[in-house]
Amino acid sequence: MNSKVAPVTTEINKKGNLEIGGCDTISLAEKFGTPLYVMDEKTLVENCRNYTEPLKKIYPKHLVIFANKAMCVTGILKIIKKEELGADVVSGGELFNTLAAGINKEKIYFHGNNKSPQELKEALENKIGRIVVDNLDELKRLDALTKKQKKTAKILLRVNPGIEAHTHEFVQTGKVNSKFGIAKEQILHVVKLIEHMSGLDFVGLHAHIGSQILGLDSYYAEIGVLTDLAIQIKKETGKTCGEINIGGGLGIAYLEEYPLFDIKDAVAKIAQYFKDTVKNKGLGEPLLILEPGRSIVGRAGVTLYTVGVVKDIPAVEKYVVVDGGMGDNPRQILYSAKYETTIANKASHKKEETVTVAGRYCESGDVLIKDSKLQPAEVGDTLAIFATGAYNYSMAMNYNQVPKPAVVLVKSGKVKLIVKRQTYKDLVRNEL
Ligand SMILES: Cc1ncc(COP(=O)(O)O)c(C=O)c1O
Repeated sequence: MNSKVAPVTTEINKKGNLEIGGCDTISLAEKFGTPLYVMDEKTLVENCRNYTEPLKKIYPKHLVIFANKAMCVTGILKIIKKEELGADVVSGGELFNTLAAGINKEKIYFHGNNKSPQELKEALENKIGRIVVDNLDELKRLDALTKKQKKTAKILLRVNPGIEAHTHEFVQTGKVNSKFGIAKEQILHVVKLIEHMSGLDFVGLHAHIGSQILGLDSYYAEIGVLTDLAIQIKKETGKTCGEINIGGGLGIAYLEEYPLFDIKDAVAKIAQYFKDTVKNKGLGEPLLILEPGRSIVGRAGVTLYTVGVVKDIPAVEKYVVVDGGMGDNPRQILYSAKYETTIANKASHKKEETVTVAGRYCESGDVLIKDSKLQPAEVGDTLAIFATGAYNYSMAMNYNQVPKPAVVLVKSGKVKLIVKRQTYKDLVRNEL
């Protein structure tokens, strides 16, 4: 199927049904129930290679780490591992999953702007690759812990580069007024403090400027800031930044009308810019780290729902109400996110109507898509929403005590259940 938003294996089969990874989505919905997250392995693997292939050619001294927060599921992380990516974790829970999936410990980076003492302890005990220190309080906490445990931690400092990426305000993370990171003007001072912290080994700098970014200028500016800091640090302290981590953030198409944004090409341009910059500034060959989330899993995911209600308010609005909503996909209420949809059992039919796809939760704002073109919908139809692989399952919640959906992985006509649907018992498991 010619689409920018659907997984690369998406087809309309002989029955006229939507097919992903060689699997009929209607059969998937019947077998596993809805809502159902479907992840396409081929798209996932291609997305990993969109990073690793250009980097291998242009800047071999690199590391790509998957930002777990986009979708932290062991069955997905096992594929990430096969593709030799590392992982960025932001909590003890994400670390737990990542270790369970067998990701190389040296390639695990621990982020977060308020890691608890327990989480820092877990990071040290598991001897993970790096801890990315976000602020001075954390630095002191980690210093005390390494001394107490007689351990050394390799650390990066999270820099707030003061850059406004062109994306939604809620996913901008590198502007001056941000809860994340240490202001670039203070970095040198902090590096000097670390010299007196015997358990901490400063190895480099990190920044993350935001998410769903569809242009490269902000990345070039970020590379400029980080490499300037590396020069300053070398000059003033003699310390070399052996690693420069420029974060994640490259965007994906959520609507077919989005301009084509080629991740492979973007990664190649970033790698070339980095290579030229470190050469021109005489910084040797630091390890270049990229930590994508959305652009690895986003397009690989499709969510299937069953239509339960079609409500027409003449001359006002036509609602197609599905059996999921903000509980399995909170991105619309958080960011006014946009999506493409189709009726999977009428995939070859014309999209003749403009409807609002609403959810089943007790909030008027629980709308998945406003004013979407859709085939005429009937109760019992299976509705598919594309590009839901990132920040959907990982942000899902149990509002209204609705169990979280199952996740299946599809490849070459085979399907594997990688997360079971929650049960009512799961919802009350911790209640006393
Ligand atoms: C520190 C850090 N790295 C990487 C990412 C991944 O970003 P994206 O999913 O946009 O690639 C995030 C997302 O918020 C982040 O906070």
